[in-house]
Amino acid sequence: MEEIVSLCKRRGFIFQSNEIYGGLQGLYDYGPLGVELKNNLKSAWWKSIVYNRDDVEGLDTSILTHPNVLKYSGHEDTFTDPLVDCKSCGLRFREDQIPEQCKGEELTEPRDFNLMFKTNVGPVSDDSSIAYLRPETAQQIYINFKNVLDSTSRSLPFGIAQIGKSFRNEITPRNFIFRVREFEQMELEFFVSPGDDEDWHKKWIENRINWWIDQGIPSEKLNLLTVTGDDLAHYSKSTVDIMYKFPHGEEELEGIANRTDFDLGSHTKNQHDLNITANVINNNDSNTRLAIQDDDNNWIIPYVIEPSAGVDRGVLAVINEAYTVEKLDNDKERIVLKLKKHLAPIKAAVIPLKRNNDDLVKLTHSIKSSLQQYQIGRVVVENTGNIGKSYRKHDEIGTPLCITVDFDTLENKTVTIRDRDTMDQKTIGLDEVNKYFIDFFSDVKS
Ligand code: GAP
Repeated sequence: MEEIVSLCKRRGFIFQSNEIYGGLQGLYDYGPLGVELKNNLKSAWWKSIVYNRDDVEGLDTSILTHPNVLKYSGHEDTFTDPLVDCKSCGLRFREDQIPEQCKGEELTEPRDFNLMFKTNVGPVSDDSSIAYLRPETAQQIYINFKNVLDSTSRSLPFGIAQIGKSFRNEITPRNFIFRVREFEQMELEFFVSPGDDEDWHKKWIENRINWWIDQGIPSEKLNLLTVTGDDLAHYSKSTVDIMYKFPHGEEELEGIANRTDFDLGSHTKNQHDLNITANVINNNDSNTRLAIQDDDNNWIIPYVIEPSAGVDRGVLAVINEAYTVEKLDNDKERIVLKLKKHLAPIKAAVIPLKRNNDDLVKLTHSIKSSLQQYQIGRVVVENTGNIGKSYRKHDEIGTPLCITVDFDTLENKTVTIRDRDTMDQKTIGLDEVNKYFIDFFSDVKS
């Protein structure tokens, strides 16, 4: 983990947030390369879940959330972690995350600590203006169910997908970006007919495992854990977590829950007419029926299958898998980030052999512009004047291709293309560069 954290800071992937004022714990900023990697991961998810299917719509909702949403979802009452105080050092911990140095000390009995961030909306700060920063993106999907249904005329089964920030005031944020207080989720709420839920749950577990493998996580590093007992959320009939061997141990990367009719049933009006099976709070505040008509024109509340993945945990997992230290023939080592091509923050670096040579630099910029027009991802000019250093840097940040422009380019119209993984270098004609680039990344746009 230390090597990854160091690389992330050194090369501009991830920084401690608010660092110049001492930092804020549990918050991180994504730097120039981190933002590209994160966007690429989110875009891969969006393509797989929305574009490549015919049964999912997208959504982007507000983060500030009406307190009733989180009252009827159960979050106000149950979204808590057990908090204990160490009377010796005066610090507070989550009951299951007490550090070694406090374990022998006198600890208070655990009490419930609600993880939601509260704020006020508008100029008056009193109970009537309270709102929460959403603790999951899911709730806003449920409360928009009728809007999406009315505007798209969908029938079951269909899903609504959202990527966005969620906020949890974690008692002990830890392990770099694994457990943070502000993070992003990629969530799909997939609505199915009651009775079809168990089959769809299985299908989505398989789908999601395969997607993580496509992002470069080997199947042997992924395990399925069926959540049981007290760990099962109040809304869930069954939850299977995709567990990944993070650098600090095996933990949840994504959860796939069968949320039954709990959520739409909690937020709908006319609850008593809708044969809700889940144990929901009596709702007299909602003004909308969150239901759909079946083939016999009866109103039913669909069941929900929810694959919910953390973007930040995904970023940590793909960096961890890609991070490779290779022994070279000359007894030296190189660090190389063997990211899948579609995730690489920079797709190609175009490097002039000499930084002060106007002809070389001009040609380098024109190759960059020519490749950038395909919008496969970011292409950069690397004008440090030191080819060895440039290759090392681009190995470390996972750039799949380096294209070197030298005096042969001016004379013979050729460039050298270097492959990140094999380090093989080949000379190709200047007029072949675009085709080489498009062919190399042909699987990225699909
Ligand atoms: N809507 C369901 C839901 O939010 P969850 O298991 O609490 O379920 C889903 O969260 C995913 O969000 C987790 O699998 C994890 O990847 C990510 N996640 C949750 N809490 C997180 C935190 N404090 N920091 C980073 N990621 C987190």
